[in-house]
Amino acid sequence: MKPVQPLFRRLSHAFAAALGTVAFSAAGLALASEAANRPLDVPYVPTPQAVVDRMLEIAKVDAGDYVIDLGSGDGRIPVTAASRYGARALGVDLNPERIAEANENAVQAGVTDKVEFRKQDLFKTEFRDATVVTMYLLPNVNLKLRPRLLDELRPGTLVVSHAFDMQDWEPDQREIVEGRSVMLWIIPAKVDGVWQVAGSDPFVLELEQNFQRLEGAAIRGDQRIEISDGRIRGDQITFTIDGNTYRGRIGNEAISGDDGTWHALRG
Ligand SMILES: C[S@@+](CC[C@H](N)C(=O)[O-])C[C@H]1O[C@@H](n2cnc3c(N)ncnc32)[C@H](O)[C@@H]1O
Repeated sequence: MKPVQPLFRRLSHAFAAALGTVAFSAAGLALASEAANRPLDVPYVPTPQAVVDRMLEIAKVDAGDYVIDLGSGDGRIPVTAASRYGARALGVDLNPERIAEANENAVQAGVTDKVEFRKQDLFKTEFRDATVVTMYLLPNVNLKLRPRLLDELRPGTLVVSHAFDMQDWEPDQREIVEGRSVMLWIIPAKVDGVWQVAGSDPFVLELEQNFQRLEGAAIRGDQRIEISDGRIRGDQITFTIDGNTYRGRIGNEAISGDDGTWHALRG
């Protein structure tokens, strides 16, 4: 990879100082936006290579993946995904200098057949085909992207962020790598609502979904039992009623019990 230039090293310090806040160097942003013809939402600061490596490792990236890095800088995340794991990858960045560097890095790594870089606004980027989305942005940018990530990505798609979280959408996994926070989210299927559970002991299941966490109750006649340990991991659902744990797979308007003894339909 190209070494970080002194200007960006200064921006890097402003960005590092802003960890956990949204207030970073206004001067840095103004400089960065000149090159991009539109204000950048985040200044350029590269993710250290060891952190890139871990971000891709915790997402278990392999040749079947399509990795999209939103705000791709010098392209190190897409280039590493392609060169080390054989994944296809896309990087988008508003700054044409970053796109030029990224393309050069893809050539040097011999992965131009697998990687594409586009000068494009990350907020206008179509990412529903991704299997892994990576980001090193800012808290307000993550938050603005959050509804689209949850609505547009398929259940089970992985989102990996360096440094910044998604507020009350808690990560499914969090690690510290060389002093940096790396967080992983698994896009949960949507199960909020009422389900008719069929099986040897039918009941109505009312589910209240809060990202990957579930609350709710099973209703049998006039008896209402709160569920416990309700959780979704991609398209997998788990909840416990009265000491019995139910595990199933969420499909299109239906849930199939893993043990074959129950299934549920919406309604
Ligand atoms: C902190 S850097 C991260 C670079 C790279 N992803 C990495 O981790 O090394 C953020 C990048 O987002 C780009 N950026 C900022 N606002 C953007 C926007 N609205 N659309 C696309 N890229 C943007 C910046 O030019 C910068 O390269």
